[in-house]
Amino acid sequence: MLGNKRVNGKNHLEIAGVDVVEIAEKMGTPLYVFDEELIRSAMREYQTTFASHYPDFAVAYAGKAFLCSAMCQLVNEEGLWLDVVSGGEYYVVRMNDFPVERILFHGNNKTEEERRYVLKEGVGRWVVDSEIELEWLAEEAKEVKRKVPVFFRLTPGVDPHTHVYITTGTVDSKFGLPLIEGIAERAIKRALAIPHLEVMGVHCHIGSQIDTLEPFLKAAEVMLHFMYDFSKKYGYFLQELDLGGGLGVPYLDSDRDRFPSISAYGRAISEKVKEICTVLSYPLPRLFVEPGRSIVNLAGSTLYQIGTIKEIPGVKKYVAVDGGMTDNPRHILYGAKYQAWVGNRVQGENVERVAVVGKCCESGDVLIPEIDLPSPRPGDILVVEGTGAYNYSMASNYNMIPRPGVVFLRGGKAELVVRPESFYDLIRKDLVTQSEGEEEGPIHG
Ligand code: LLP
Repeated sequence: MLGNKRVNGKNHLEIAGVDVVEIAEKMGTPLYVFDEELIRSAMREYQTTFASHYPDFAVAYAGKAFLCSAMCQLVNEEGLWLDVVSGGEYYVVRMNDFPVERILFHGNNKTEEERRYVLKEGVGRWVVDSEIELEWLAEEAKEVKRKVPVFFRLTPGVDPHTHVYITTGTVDSKFGLPLIEGIAERAIKRALAIPHLEVMGVHCHIGSQIDTLEPFLKAAEVMLHFMYDFSKKYGYFLQELDLGGGLGVPYLDSDRDRFPSISAYGRAISEKVKEICTVLSYPLPRLFVEPGRSIVNLAGSTLYQIGTIKEIPGVKKYVAVDGGMTDNPRHILYGAKYQAWVGNRVQGENVERVAVVGKCCESGDVLIPEIDLPSPRPGDILVVEGTGAYNYSMASNYNMIPRPGVVFLRGGKAELVVRPESFYDLIRKDLVTQSEGEEEGPIHG
């Protein structure tokens, strides 16, 4: 079992001291459930590790992994920065009074509307992704009073050996400025001549769900050499280095030992940066990291109710739940692996090998292709673990399935922090419906 879970006297699964059957009865399924303490402890592990190994640093939580108002408030309380990647994420964060000075703004194609919105409100670091963006920013930043503090996203050409869809730091990438042919260097030099911009440093993010430290260390080395060369050539010291996110996490008990801990990661990159700076006699830059998955994934689980069960003799048994690729598209997208428990009968006889599938009109709508479960039955509560990152944030309304709500567990209690969508939410934005519909429709959140 992952995270803070146990089996109670009723043979029910408890997460953070709360019985999942009670949560499901009270709040319905499907439902995303987060152990608040685990989110906080991951944030603290990042903060304390860097504090003990590096003099000047900032940890920015990557909101794309999981963002809602309650999460913004946690991040703010723990004193982290927040990395946003769209006007929408920026809006959610600002609506929760998150200080602009701790917001980092990303995006390979920030629209004019997004750029103007963020410029008007303010930002901690603006991550320039392309030369075209730099020229737009040069014009648009004239209208704001403060200088805009900028980073440049570079592609260091390091392959982290993760899924190709989440590999981002190789030369052939839609993100960032390549180091080849002096492109990155040319952009930064150009920015130094723009009076409304303050060039703070450089950024890279090589990929996600990375299971070894070596690619991070390699990226740090490439970036620092770039900073050093730049200082030699132009006499300008880039003072900040953002190494992005990407630390991988186990999704299965059998993978527990495969991933470096947050502490091991923080220590290794801190030491590496210090070591290279000593060799190059380069002043220690302020170090930024942008973890997403490693902060929230372990803390999240999804509760489903089992519905139909189909047995094809000699072939397979399909167990269908009341959600699927709409609330968790990660198996169909990346072949991600998950483990699950029958929440109302954790330990049971007659374990059977089954496939857990969703309710969408799509054969690929599979959550777990093969898992042993104790004779699953209709009405059972199925708990899929490790769904904290990139589930809620990637959920869709395919097949007009309402998106689940979000519950935070703390102090032995469950609090609904995002209500589940209702059927009415599915037509709320439609302007030409025949009948009005109402909030209190047949199924409401
Ligand atoms: N910083 C930047 C610039 C990023 O693009 C990302 C993730 C992060 C930080 C956070 O990375 P993390 O620590 O979470 O690995 N949907 C995919 C993951 C996409 C990651 C996109 N960028 C998935 O479900 O695996």
